[in-house]
Amino acid sequence: MTEFELNYENLKKSFDGILDSFCAGLDCKPEILNDSLIYSLRLGGKRIRPVLMFAVGKLLGLDSQKLKNFALALELIHTYSLIHDDLPEMDNDDFRRGKPSNHKVYGTGNAVLAGDGLLNTAYSVLFGECFNGSEYVSAAKYICDCAGIKGMIAGQSADLLHQNDSEIDEDVLDFIYENKTSKLIMAAVVVPSILCGGKYYSELKLFGRDLGFLFQITDDILDVEGNFENLGKSVGKDSAEGKYTSVRLYGLDKSNVKADLLCERCVKILESFNGNTEFLKDLVNFVRQRIN
Ligand code: IPE
Ligand code: IPE
Ligand code: MG
Ligand code: MG
Ligand code: MG
Repeated sequence: MTEFELNYENLKKSFDGILDSFCAGLDCKPEILNDSLIYSLRLGGKRIRPVLMFAVGKLLGLDSQKLKNFALALELIHTYSLIHDDLPEMDNDDFRRGKPSNHKVYGTGNAVLAGDGLLNTAYSVLFGECFNGSEYVSAAKYICDCAGIKGMIAGQSADLLHQNDSEIDEDVLDFIYENKTSKLIMAAVVVPSILCGGKYYSELKLFGRDLGFLFQITDDILDVEGNFENLGKSVGKDSAEGKYTSVRLYGLDKSNVKADLLCERCVKILESFNGNTEFLKDLVNFVRQRIN
């Protein structure tokens, strides 16, 4: 294991501990609701948003305890977005994180409710943080806005609206990327800044935006070049479903060039920070080179 892999694994492990306690305390009735929530949360996943949040918190000198519930809320929202994204009326994907999608196990109605339940619970977790002070209220609101109708939901709506468009253009693709993917990644890196009184706020916003674009371009490339074993989700679906992707607009070669440029931009932003940014730089390269 490289030093980066070890550090990633440690951050991921500490987040998985937080998630395990959350799952252990759920105890919802009826049982099917409890099971369907835990099913998607425990399937795994890279946990890249919580890892990013903790890594930026460390860079800014923030006590990781303060981020615990924000990381939890963000992963709940991300997992809800995946459950709904896989529904037959959206991307119609039968697999997620290497296992049948939530609706394939529990049915569409229960999958809608599991997604709703995760979103609702995330808000409850965020409201709980608001008692700690005004910066916590601002951080909670930032996550809500990133997830909401001018954030991830707007991106998902545009993704659906433009599915099967015969012509595609850069502005629409940028709108989709910025909202469906970058916004939650921006939330991960901006929340620690808000809790530190706005330290590197604008830089981290730009960093999150670029990293989100890089993340979605590599996701789109992997849909063409990746495989099910590594990704844990179906491949070749984007072109089959007429999705508006980087590969469709620019082709594979130019998408790779764009990914390299975004990677360089992210690293450049990190170089403007004081402190040790090695882990975050390695994380950017991991997103560029990822196979899962
Ligand atoms: C998948 O996100 C959805 C996109 C934004 C492309 P991740 O690739 O972070 O999914 P998990 O959490 O690791 O399964
Ligand atoms: C989804 O983008 C982004 C979300 C907000 C869930 P994709 O539809 O490309 O994500 P995958 O490929 O299904 O993970
Ligand atoms: Mg989608
Ligand atoms: Mg999808
Ligand atoms: Mg995809």
